Amino acid sequence: MTKLIALLPGDGIGQEIVPQGRKVLEVVASRLGLELEFEEGLIGGAAIDAAGTPLPEATLDLCRRSTAILLGAVGGPKWDNLPVHLRPEAGALLPLRKQLGLYANLRPAFLFAPLAKASPLKPELIEGLDLLAVRELTGGLYFGEKKTFRREDGQETAIDTLVYTEGEIERIVRLAFELARKRRRKVTSVDKANVLESSRLWRRVAERVAQDYPDVTLEHMYVDNCAMQLVRWPKQFDVIVTENMFGDILTDQASVLAGSIGMLPSASLGGEVALYEPSHGSAPDIAGQDKANPLATILSVALMLKFSLDCEEGAKAIEQAVAEVLAEGYRTADLWEEGAKLVGCRAMGDLVAEKV
Ligand code: NAI
Ligand code: MG
Repeated sequence: MTKLIALLPGDGIGQEIVPQGRKVLEVVASRLGLELEFEEGLIGGAAIDAAGTPLPEATLDLCRRSTAILLGAVGGPKWDNLPVHLRPEAGALLPLRKQLGLYANLRPAFLFAPLAKASPLKPELIEGLDLLAVRELTGGLYFGEKKTFRREDGQETAIDTLVYTEGEIERIVRLAFELARKRRRKVTSVDKANVLESSRLWRRVAERVAQDYPDVTLEHMYVDNCAMQLVRWPKQFDVIVTENMFGDILTDQASVLAGSIGMLPSASLGGEVALYEPSHGSAPDIAGQDKANPLATILSVALMLKFSLDCEEGAKAIEQAVAEVLAEGYRTADLWEEGAKLVGCRAMGDLVAEKV
């Protein structure tokens, strides 16, 4: 049966990298006999310009009809001064995730051996790095009640709330255990249980879920310690599972370990349809110059093959192709090093597509 893939290039380099992801996916599909159909939708600033809203109803409808979504990035200086609900990020990305029920954000950080020198950490600390961060995406501090008001003493005061239900914690922790089972069987649950009530609940639920997975080791770690451990000895981690904001910060930190933000894919799961996107933004500083690294997007396509298209073989083929292209010395500008062969966005996409 033909499966529909929604393509949402969005803004800035999104317009350049999504076509590279599609190109590679088409090669894999024709080689492995997957029947795919593609349809493009508007999102972000591009949608504001064309339709007056960052997340048009037609785009949501397209997403709901699709098996999987490949998103580029949204935002840019042109739309920075709009009211917050109209801005590409707050007006499109957050509601899209929420409306599609995408509560789990998976961000693998792994090092391709030829990029050891591009990492800010010493090679011995990151050679063989392979960790998976699982961030809760539709609850916690970013979605709790918030308000700004003036206290009786005249002080302007602002409140954000960090709310979790047992059910929200359980489903994300369970997913982390399931994923750990297919990896090195270790889950690190990251919280701030020495201070936060929601973290105490998180810990209790994690302990309970762990009883169903006697073959997987559970450890708890405070978020501040985790930040330190990620640079001190990142290879100690297999699967990390954590609250929305903790995950936002820790995954950005983990992202530089692999050499460049342009290398890191992501998958958002939990609903009927899953969303795949690079971890970076729209990079307005290099947009339209054929300089962007398309590998994060291409590796997001590999995650799509694994989680949405039941095609582990295709995912492996892409990862292998990327490894070979890097081993042959091809680099986009963000990964530039002495002696490398500098290529643009489109050429990098072509190289991976050929190898696949
Ligand atoms: P950014 O990730 O777009 O760029 C940060 C730096 O990394 C820039 O120097 C950029 O050139 C570089 N970079 C990013 N992706 C790259 C790639 N594939 N290849 C080579 N270099 C790359 O983050 P920034 O500058 O904070 O945000 C720019 C815009 O993107 C803003 O409007 C922001 O709100 C939006 N944004 C959107 C996200 C999304 O759509 N998921 C996520 C993060 C930011
Ligand atoms: Mg972030």
